[in-house]
Amino acid sequence: MATATAIDQALATVDEVAAEGDLTAEARALLTLDATTHEAILLPDGRTIYPPSLFGEPLQEVACRLLDAQDPTRSRYLKLIGPPGTGKSQIARAIAYTSWRQQKKKVIKRHGSPFYGLIELQPGPSADEYFFRYDFIPDPEDATRVKLVEAAFVEAMRNGWLVVIDEVSIARDVALLSLNGTLDGRLILYLAATGETVTAQPGFGVILTYNPGLVGATDIPDAWHSRFPATVEVSSNWGALRELGVNGALVDAAEKYDSKRKSGELAWTPQFREIESLHVMSDRVGERVALSMFISGLHEQLETGKLLAADAAAACRMLDEGGFQRFKVSAGKRKAGASNAIPNLEGYPRAVTR
Ligand SMILES: Nc1ncnc2c1ncn2[C@@H]1O[C@H](COP(=O)(O)OP(=O)(O)OP(=O)(O)O)[C@@H](O)[C@H]1O
Ligand SMILES: [Mg+2]
Repeated sequence: MATATAIDQALATVDEVAAEGDLTAEARALLTLDATTHEAILLPDGRTIYPPSLFGEPLQEVACRLLDAQDPTRSRYLKLIGPPGTGKSQIARAIAYTSWRQQKKKVIKRHGSPFYGLIELQPGPSADEYFFRYDFIPDPEDATRVKLVEAAFVEAMRNGWLVVIDEVSIARDVALLSLNGTLDGRLILYLAATGETVTAQPGFGVILTYNPGLVGATDIPDAWHSRFPATVEVSSNWGALRELGVNGALVDAAEKYDSKRKSGELAWTPQFREIESLHVMSDRVGERVALSMFISGLHEQLETGKLLAADAAAACRMLDEGGFQRFKVSAGKRKAGASNAIPNLEGYPRAVTR
């Protein structure tokens, strides 16, 4: 298998380098093995996921080894962190699907969609201490009333499913801390409405995804860091974008600026989702229009203080290097106040209607 061979080769070379007593720069380069060596995962809903690599191994396989499907009290839970659009939610789905297959369970239909033991929850800012315990649904027998039913989280505990709590940092602590008894290794949840204590069944697990330090978010409660001891910083799978046929110069530039983000030099750079969207929009409406829409988005975020000037300027340099320079307007047409001024950002025209 291509994956195994690539990993074996890398590990053998790492061993050689280590044997020579020099496990520094070279080893580091090898350990960031090209992610495209991993086979794409086709989810039952038709989505294709290109798994990112962690030290040469597909992330979903590492993640599944942390979970103990037979005895969930032995599981070590994972949090996937990273900026928007890097693929955190995607990889969480790949982990759930891989775990389901490892448990030799069949994909079934649930609520009309293929189901592989994954419950995705987005608590959001309005979630309270009942969010993970109860749901209110319209009473089928009396339209004027609502009915109390068990929340999807409880269902997941009873049935041994994997729960992904998405964008968890925007949920209030009051909702999250209500799970402390479940997540401290006891795997129990007390339901006051019936007096029942539910115990999680084999197969149950929890994964968090969030963007730490997001403006306006509360981050996760301090007590949760030790409950989710395995943290992975997810970054965009640039190799996958190349495989998808996105302009190689643009992907190279995006990857280059992304490494400046990782080193802390920049706070934000365009990620998988932005680059993929620019590619798809270019196909549909042409590069010039797609680019101007991308630029207007940057401009909006800059004006509203969501984006730093340095990050916006870096994104424009990324476009220069990605081959979009030909769409820039000349300095004369750019001058603010000039009657023929074209609204632009760093020379890139914005999508402004007339
Ligand atoms: N590894 C990947 N394989 C396939 N598609 C990917 C991958 N990573 C990202 N994508 C694409 O990028 C989009 C964003 O990915 P995803 O929703 O997982 O990001 P995210 O990190 O969860 O972002 P957010 O923080 O905004 O929720 C997806 O809809 C998909 O089109
Ligand atoms: Mg997400």
